[in-house]
Amino acid sequence: MSVRLCVKLARCSVTLLRSQSCINKEIVQIYRSLSTSQPHTAEKKLFTPGPLGTSLTVRQAMLQDLGSRDIKFINVVKKIRADLLSIAEVAPADFTSILLQGSGTFAVESIFQTSVPRTGGKVLILENGVYGRRMKTICDTLAIPAHMESFAEDSRVDLGRVESVLKADNSFTHVAVVQCETTSGLFNDVESVGKLVKKYIPDCTYFVDAMSSFGAVPVDFSASNIDVLVSSANKCLQGVPGFGFAIIRKDTLSRCKGNSRSLSLDLYDQCDALDKTSQFRFTPATHAMLAFSQALDEFRQEGGVHGRRQRYMENCRVLNEGMTRLGFHSYLKEDVAGYIITSYFYPQHPKFSFAEFYNRLNEKDDVIYPGKLLKADCFRIGTIGHLFPEDVEQLLRNIESVCRDMGIQIPLEDKA
Ligand SMILES: Cc1ncc(COP(=O)(O)O)c(C=O)c1O
Repeated sequence: MSVRLCVKLARCSVTLLRSQSCINKEIVQIYRSLSTSQPHTAEKKLFTPGPLGTSLTVRQAMLQDLGSRDIKFINVVKKIRADLLSIAEVAPADFTSILLQGSGTFAVESIFQTSVPRTGGKVLILENGVYGRRMKTICDTLAIPAHMESFAEDSRVDLGRVESVLKADNSFTHVAVVQCETTSGLFNDVESVGKLVKKYIPDCTYFVDAMSSFGAVPVDFSASNIDVLVSSANKCLQGVPGFGFAIIRKDTLSRCKGNSRSLSLDLYDQCDALDKTSQFRFTPATHAMLAFSQALDEFRQEGGVHGRRQRYMENCRVLNEGMTRLGFHSYLKEDVAGYIITSYFYPQHPKFSFAEFYNRLNEKDDVIYPGKLLKADCFRIGTIGHLFPEDVEQLLRNIESVCRDMGIQIPLEDKA
């Protein structure tokens, strides 16, 4: 190659590099302006048990970086803890609320491993679905002695059987039950269970997993004898995922000092740090907490538990009426079904495939959920989160058109 050609080539490369760096700068500028402009509105409607849809204002509340020692953040943490007690309608003198990083399962696990005594501890788990069975897996993993009493997935925890178990063995230190078994959508009678628990074992810790129900299904802590309840930010209170919380009797917690089998899931130490400094022992989910604080304001504006319950019940009513019209059958009988999530049998049609049904609905921006039942082929449709009756009506229209596109006649001719 001649020297002239080499010089020409070098000049060309420099020009190219300059224009490349201009392009890079422009890209950076576009990115900056995008990241400071309004967030992209979620178009997907999540008819799932979680993650759930949230309002734009809840998502906007996260557009702020705060240090964990910032007074604004500390005040947010204090406010959230107080709000949770007020939603639960428990007295701050008797109960405290503890926020814990992670998903809901982390919160459930934190209860067992913090509160079951290392010697003599024994748990009774009343199970009628996946989340009850997960409690048993947690106890087994932690080598905590646990007896799991199983009930059919389509019926409530049976009080007669619970009574017999408690009568036969009063050595349980903990009894655990799920309020809304999200596997099917069934509501267990936590109040009647709690009454039995304290009748036969007054010192026993009664633990309710209200993950998918707290904030939309009323719970009477006092009448139900609840010692500890857990839920998470991104369920009925409509924050974003990132942390769970426990509402726990102070005297129950006070017995847990030094009992924890884990460092990060030690609820006693977590509460101690929060009480003393309103700070977390380890990096907090700052953005998720800012979002949750906004979500709690919106919860109050909607009328608290009563208001949220009304909307979810209406969502569920519209769904059930519409699905019945389309010929679908729900798995649960009306007397045990709640209004959080509904399980429907797969259509008995050779052309039905859940994967295709799901994908086609997803293309229309409606996200439904597969079933997890042991003995029935079902899919699930959630009616909680930032969803409204008109969203459910749109989903019903989409279900109808997807079925037709799949060659499935509507209404279905399935027998109940
Ligand atoms: C009743 C119940 N318990 C526990 C969990 C577990 O929560 P996560 O999936 O956030 O860990 C769920 C999740 O939906 C649930 O519905």
